[in-house]
Amino acid sequence: MTLAERPDLGSAVYAIPYPADSPRFMAGSLTSLLVRGRRVARRWPELVVALLDRGVPVARGIMVPFRGREPFPARGWDEVAVWAAEDALDGVAPDAACALEIAVHPGYQQRGLSSVVLAAMRDAVAAAGLSSLVIPVRPPGKAAVPLLPMAEYAFAVRRDGLPADPWLRTHVRAGGRIEGVASCSATVQAPLASWREWTGLGFDREGVAVVPGALAPVLVSVVHDYAVYVEANVWVSHRV
Ligand SMILES: CC(C)(COP(=O)(O)OP(=O)(O)OC[C@H]1O[C@@H](n2cnc3c(N)ncnc32)[C@H](O)[C@@H]1OP(=O)(O)O)[C@@H](O)C(=O)NCCC(=O)NCCS
Repeated sequence: MTLAERPDLGSAVYAIPYPADSPRFMAGSLTSLLVRGRRVARRWPELVVALLDRGVPVARGIMVPFRGREPFPARGWDEVAVWAAEDALDGVAPDAACALEIAVHPGYQQRGLSSVVLAAMRDAVAAAGLSSLVIPVRPPGKAAVPLLPMAEYAFAVRRDGLPADPWLRTHVRAGGRIEGVASCSATVQAPLASWREWTGLGFDREGVAVVPGALAPVLVSVVHDYAVYVEANVWVSHRV
């Protein structure tokens, strides 16, 4: 269902938690403030989908509409979140949807629900009269190899030709097409005090820091009191 059909379930849909080991520092993304809280659900409830188990939301997919420009910008998630906000402010009619988040309740993971969410998202996009669905996919498994370039990780395949990464594999199995790497898709720049609080790490050395849950290294400047994280994602398009 979508929140346009069941507005009463908004709180429960947004209360579906992330796994306990999810990185806290992603909340430091400035761009994500544009779409924080239930703003997307208030404005575009038809683009927030959820799966119910006996009436209780157990998975969600959140999308924003935008007018397609260059199809797959290198600044991925951040860029499309800004485009969606700009289009809404300027009254520009959208023709595409971009997924910002897909989450399955930790107690319901590894049961194949993510592809059901993807199918529901495609249906919602079609019902909203939009012609395409694009996703800057964040493969959480990449955190195991933070120093490997995303371009190498994303295109690694198994013997059967499907992506080696399980989350990318799910998208491809669901009919998604890998379009390329969004090399600077999500960024977090913050003073070292914030990084220390988010991670419990010292951030007391200049240079590159490997942070649990990060898909890429964090660049640290002790002298200038900030660290910057630039995360690559993988552009995937789904037919609707
Ligand atoms: C990513 C996520 C949506 C996957 O949902 P899910 O319903 O658990 O996934 P599925 O059961 O459909 O499994 C999809 C594939 O991933 C694999 N998989 C799922 N969880 C896995 C894990 N923890 N480790 C390794 N592989 C895993 C499955 O085996 C399956 O691959 P296969 O069919 O080729 O075997 C879910 O883990 C999640 O909500 N994570 C937190 C939020 C997040 O990171 N979202 C993605 C970025 S927005």
